[in-house]
Amino acid sequence: MRILVSDDVSEKGVALLREHFDVDVKTNMPPAELLECIGNYDGLVTRSQTQVTEEVIAAAKNLKVIGRAGVGVDNINIPAATARGIVVVNAPEGNTIAAVEHTIGMTLAMTRHIPQAHQSIQEGKWDRKSFTGIQLSGKTLGIIGVGRIGSRVAKRMQAMEMTTIGYDPYITEERARQVGVELVDFDTLLARSDYITLHTPLTKETRNMVDAAAIAKMKDGVRLVNCARGECFDVHAIADAIKAGKVAGAAIDVYPDEPLTLDNNPFLGMFNVVQTSHLGASTIEAQEGVAVDVAYGVIDALNGKPVMNAVNMAPIPKSVAAVIEPYFSLAERMGTIAIYLADGPVEDLDIEYTGALSETETQHLTTAFLKGFLSPSRPDSVNYDTAPGLAKKRNLNVKESKSHKTGYYSTAITVKIKTSSGEHFIAGTLFDGKDPKIVQIDQYSVDFDPKGYLLLVPHIDQPNMIGQIATILGKAAININGMQVGRTTESGTNIMAVAVDDDIPNDILLQLSGIEGILDVKLIHCEE
Ligand code: NAD
Ligand code: MLT
Repeated sequence: MRILVSDDVSEKGVALLREHFDVDVKTNMPPAELLECIGNYDGLVTRSQTQVTEEVIAAAKNLKVIGRAGVGVDNINIPAATARGIVVVNAPEGNTIAAVEHTIGMTLAMTRHIPQAHQSIQEGKWDRKSFTGIQLSGKTLGIIGVGRIGSRVAKRMQAMEMTTIGYDPYITEERARQVGVELVDFDTLLARSDYITLHTPLTKETRNMVDAAAIAKMKDGVRLVNCARGECFDVHAIADAIKAGKVAGAAIDVYPDEPLTLDNNPFLGMFNVVQTSHLGASTIEAQEGVAVDVAYGVIDALNGKPVMNAVNMAPIPKSVAAVIEPYFSLAERMGTIAIYLADGPVEDLDIEYTGALSETETQHLTTAFLKGFLSPSRPDSVNYDTAPGLAKKRNLNVKESKSHKTGYYSTAITVKIKTSSGEHFIAGTLFDGKDPKIVQIDQYSVDFDPKGYLLLVPHIDQPNMIGQIATILGKAAININGMQVGRTTESGTNIMAVAVDDDIPNDILLQLSGIEGILDVKLIHCEE
């Protein structure tokens, strides 16, 4: 079998691959060249530079595995790979410490103007006035995303006598307490922090999370750090805020458009900015670690063995698969809806299987549910192998039960979600033995397809609610492709499930929430 290594990956990993396969290393290939040659390979190994687009996957006729030597898989079109049965495997742990240490180095370098002072010395100057900084001790560090990297940055910055606060809607108070981080809401983090460092994956929610509106809520003189994903910062808004004196400094390792050039660098010539070229993971240990981890993943995948860090699939015994396979996407989509339904960190998940599902092994369906549940927050690290472990780390108490008693639907999955602020219910089944349907949300009986973009809108049962929603969406040129109203006799309220073609911008969601009689507006995205 043939493997293409298309980015700079440590020789240790390449050597391991060579023991099993024919390996070609071709880095910095123009996209057209990659398209032309990818059909010859059974495996592809990348870092973050190679863009593995839908087009590349379509041309990759023999491809069985894509290995990503690192955490973020946002350069790989996962749905396209999954649809073609290509395993995507990453190396989520190997570069954590490198990214943590780079974040700290960048924070100190920005604070004390170390690169600028070095440059000045190199130019033969002895300037002791221009480079006065501040001290970290006594300052508050706001951490957006308290995962593998964010939590370790917290620990280390606590040693620097910083107070660490965090915004991460997906971890529990207990987990935050374990790493000495006070969990706060996003606006509080913005208002209280002297430093803000971001450590989230790139998702729909985190894209442009630090933008002009967020900056306006920050303290004057705040300092910003991004060693995670460039698209999470609106770099132009940050550059403007530095020019205006609102932001006192920025340390930036990652950019929306990489590689950064003189033409697209908004921070060019700015004294208060320290920049590196996506070097967070660039240590010998990290590069060897991720290369070796990903090589083992690729070898296992091509040898048909279970893959530890598969991002998109894992083997299931055939006998079990025959019964549960049709329910997989239902379970996963129910998980995604459940995380959006919950208004805070979830403590308990009770999953009940009835009918035919009560007579088979269902743990893989529970895993599919957990994958859907955790994916919005950890798209880079959740897969069928890691979902149960990640759920445990989040102190999620997951209980699986079975009942032969059938309700209205002969076979169904019902989930009770307990959060610190209350309980939610969601139930789903298959129509015609194949089409996933959600049949209950909280107290409401519903009947909608869990796919694409969905608005869930509980509202007072009164005239013209549908009309007002449709008018706002229509004016915003958002096409409604399905709508269903779920009712309950007791509460005088209904729920609308509105399926739309596209994502809905925040300002439109705010307009919808502002309609009198609307109790809540949740936009859910279920991967198709
Ligand atoms: P992780 O999955 O362990 O942690 C991410 C955390 O972000 C999770 O706790 C998650 O709950 C949280 N999160 C998700 N959505 C959020 C939201 N909307 N608001 C607040 N928090 C949210 O990931 P990690 O290993 O810590 O990596 C973090 C980031 O660093 C990733 O983007 C990764 O690709 C990047 N990274 C960059 C480099 C580099 O070279 N600069 C190196 C390694 C990792
Ligand atoms: C990652 O997500 O692992 C990092 O961006 C590091 C890299 O790709 O080099």
